[in-house]
Amino acid sequence: MEEVPELAFATSTSDPHAGSLADVLWRAAPERRRRCRSDTRYQLGLAPLVRDDRGVLRALLLENLHPLASSVLKAQGIEVETRSGALDESELFEALQGVQLLGIRSKTQVTARVLAEAGDLLAIGAYCIGTNQIELGAASRAGIATFNAPFSNTRSVVELAVAEIIALTRRLTEHDGALHGGIWDKSAEGAHEVRGRTLGIVGYGNIGSQLSVLAESLGMSVVFHDSSEKLSLGNARRVESLDELLDVADVVTLHVDGRAGNAGLFGAPQFARMKPSAIFLNLSRGFVVDYWALREAVLSGRVAGAAVDVFPVEPKSRGDHFDSELRGLPNVILTPHVGGSTEEAQRDIGQFVSGKLRDYVNTGSTTLSVNLPNLALDQHAGCHRFAHLHHNTPGVLAAVNRTFAEHGVNIEGQLLATRGEFGYVVTDVSADIDQAVITQMQEMEQTVRLRVLS
Ligand SMILES: NC(=O)c1ccc[n+]([C@@H]2O[C@H](COP(=O)([O-])OP(=O)(O)OC[C@H]3O[C@@H](n4cnc5c(N)ncnc54)[C@H](O)[C@@H]3O)[C@@H](O)[C@H]2O)c1
Repeated sequence: MEEVPELAFATSTSDPHAGSLADVLWRAAPERRRRCRSDTRYQLGLAPLVRDDRGVLRALLLENLHPLASSVLKAQGIEVETRSGALDESELFEALQGVQLLGIRSKTQVTARVLAEAGDLLAIGAYCIGTNQIELGAASRAGIATFNAPFSNTRSVVELAVAEIIALTRRLTEHDGALHGGIWDKSAEGAHEVRGRTLGIVGYGNIGSQLSVLAESLGMSVVFHDSSEKLSLGNARRVESLDELLDVADVVTLHVDGRAGNAGLFGAPQFARMKPSAIFLNLSRGFVVDYWALREAVLSGRVAGAAVDVFPVEPKSRGDHFDSELRGLPNVILTPHVGGSTEEAQRDIGQFVSGKLRDYVNTGSTTLSVNLPNLALDQHAGCHRFAHLHHNTPGVLAAVNRTFAEHGVNIEGQLLATRGEFGYVVTDVSADIDQAVITQMQEMEQTVRLRVLS
C-alpha cells in the first residue's frame, strides 16, 4: 500500500482501472492509523478508503458465486478475487485487508469484530436473500453499505415447492424407491391429486405470494397466514392465526423470514394440530422448525410426507458429511438448501447484487440497501458528489450546507434520506473543491463516512 501521511483528495483520473470514481482517500502511516482506532473519528466508523498503489479497488467474492458476479465488477476495472468456500472469522479478518467490496452467500458470518477491523471495506453484497449472517448494525456504524437479492431466486424456490407438493401428494419417492429396489408396488393408496386440496402458506412474502398464484393455477385452494398485512392474490384467503390455517390445510408450507422471533415457530403442538395425513414443507429457515417433532409426526403417520430444504446447522462445503434426525424417513424429501439454487437464479443474483455494488461505488446509490438509508442516484456528470453518511441528529443538514456556503460552493442538487439512527445526504456541486471543505465535513461529530465522487 502507498502510504501518505494525511488526508488526500483524488480527482477523476483517466486510468481505466479506477472506473469513474474518485474518493476521499485517507491514507495514514501505520502508527497514525493505529492511533485513529481509538480517536473519535474511528469510533464513529470514519473508515478510510484505501486503494492499492495502482488506484485499483479490490473485491473478494466467496462461496462460489456465479461468474456474472465477477464480470459485472471487472467491467468497472475492479480487481476480483474469488474463492469457492466460506471463511471463518479469523480467515475473513485476514482476507479483508485491502479489500473494498465483499461478496458472500449465507455461510460466511460477518461479525462486528470483522467489521471493526476491516478498515478498507466499503460495501458487502449478500448474494442471497437472507442477511442474518451479517451484523447489520455494526456494518451501519462502520459506514459499510450492505445489499442483498430479495427477489432474484423467488421463482426457483416456488417451483421446487410446487414439485415437492405434487411429489409428496403422489408418494413419488416411495414408488421410485420401490422400483429401484426391484419391487413393482402398483397402488393408488395414499396418492392424491393436488387439485381441490387446500394449501396453507405461512409467510405471504415474495415466495409465499408467488406460490399462491401457481398453486391456484393447479386448482388448489389457498389460505395464508402472515404476521403483517398482505394483499391476497387471486382467491387466496387470509386467516388470522396459524392454528386456523392448520385446521384446514392439506399441505402446510413455511415461507417466513429469518427474524429471531421465528425460532421454534413450528413444533410438536403445531404438528399435532395439522389435519391427519397432511403434508409439511419447510423451504424457509432451519431454526424455525423442531425437526425431532417432525420426525415423531412422520413416524406416527400424523404427517403423511415432508420436504425439508433448510436445516439449523448446515455443512459448510459441498461434499461435507450431513446428518439429521430426518434421514431415512418414508416419504420425506431432503434437499441441501437448493431451493434458490438454479442456474437462472444464480445468474440473476450475481448480476443484481454486483450491479448494486457497482452503482454504490460509482454513484453512491443505496437503492435496496438493507442497512443504509435508501437513495436512488444517477450518474453525476460534470460535478463533484459528496455522499455523507451521518448519525441522524438535528442540524446535520444545516451544518453540511453551512460548510459549503462558508467555502463559496454552490449546491447543484441535494437529496437526503434517513433510516433510524442514520442519515445519508448526497450533494452535487460543480465548483472546484477546496480540501478544507472535505476536512471540515470529515471532522463533523456526526460523520460516519464521507465519500467524494468526481
Ligand atoms: N430454500 C432456499 O434456498 C431459500 C431461497 C430463498 C429464500 N429462502 C427463505 O425463504 C423465506 C421467505 O423468503 P421471502 O423472500 O418470501 O421473504 P419475505 O420477507 O418476502 O417474506 C416473509 C414473510 O413472512 C412473514 N412472517 C414472518 N414471520 C412470520 C410469522 N411468525 N408468522 C407469519 N408470517 C410471518 C413476513 O411478514 C413476510 O411477509 C426466507 O426465510 C428466506 O431466507 C430460502
